[in-house]
Amino acid sequence: MLQNIVGILKNTTFVASVGWNLSPKIRISILNSMKIAIIGAGNMGSAIARGILSATSAHEVWISNPSAGKLTALKGDYPEVQTTSSNLEAVYDAHLIILAVKPWLIAEVIREIAPSIDACKQVVASLAGGMSIDDVAACFSAAKAPVPPLCVVMPNTAIAVGSSMTFIATREVPAEAEQVVVALFSIMGKVKLIPERLLPAATSLASCGIAFALRYVRAAMEGGVELGFTPRDAQEIVGQTLQGAIDLLAQEGAHPETEIDKVTTAGGLTIRGLNAMEQAGFTHSVQQGLRAAVK
Ligand SMILES: NC(=O)c1ccc[n+]([C@@H]2O[C@H](COP(=O)([O-])OP(=O)(O)OC[C@H]3O[C@@H](n4cnc5c(N)ncnc54)[C@H](OP(=O)(O)O)[C@@H]3O)[C@@H](O)[C@H]2O)c1
Repeated sequence: MLQNIVGILKNTTFVASVGWNLSPKIRISILNSMKIAIIGAGNMGSAIARGILSATSAHEVWISNPSAGKLTALKGDYPEVQTTSSNLEAVYDAHLIILAVKPWLIAEVIREIAPSIDACKQVVASLAGGMSIDDVAACFSAAKAPVPPLCVVMPNTAIAVGSSMTFIATREVPAEAEQVVVALFSIMGKVKLIPERLLPAATSLASCGIAFALRYVRAAMEGGVELGFTPRDAQEIVGQTLQGAIDLLAQEGAHPETEIDKVTTAGGLTIRGLNAMEQAGFTHSVQQGLRAAVK
């Protein structure tokens, strides 16, 4: 019989008092006990399935998709994954249902699965970009079904390489179940639980932010080629330089300005470069772009 996520937590070695910092071992033991259903095996759905399956020995990861190709590819890499063309089979008895279809298909999918969802025991997480928790809840109401505990999850494309910045906003999700959703997406990068009102800003900063960061990479590569490097070398150099900057920032108490100060000798070349960039509007452009990308 279906047991809800909170029930699972109480039956595992997990104790509710561990708080938000679940150790990897605890995360895995929780996730191994759950049935997780992913609806849609596209970029996001497949990346999430791969992330979970590569980090756990969960045998109850289900993924549904109307066409077979993506399911076959996933099954080839992870024979333990349960694949189906039936959304109803996937959601049956699942503790967590992840909706990974395009936003315009969410209403149709919810209309199909809502009658089979037990709103007291199952948690639904939607990845649909631009849809609020209210929008998702309205789909359940339109289907004349009780609204289950809901999460909106906003990863970025780096989820495909286990390095996502994922934001989660929830409504009516018990704290323990919220921790499980956070633990699940923590397998695939960093997670921040945020109030829903911050989702548009989070999307700009981290989802669009991937494109913004890569545009910097492209600009620096083109500069490097102009200065005499091959494009391949320029990409490697810019990538490693960014990686170094990120690693420096990861140090305890690090701040960008402190690290910049270490490079900028008085009267030196770095400050000349920085000032030239600022005169061309670097900071202003970045902030304008972030604002423009907020819905
Ligand atoms: N890509 C991103 O950067 C990103 C970031 C954050 C959030 N999101 C959100 O994540 C969601 C999925 O995006 P995506 O990029 O993964 O899209 P995608 O690659 O197009 O994948 C969607 C999948 O849903 C399947 N599908 C279509 N109708 C279905 C149905 N009725 N039941 C079950 N599955 C169905 C499609 O199958 P067929 O191909 O066989 O039709 C396809 O495999 C979207 O809502 C998007 O807004 C995306």
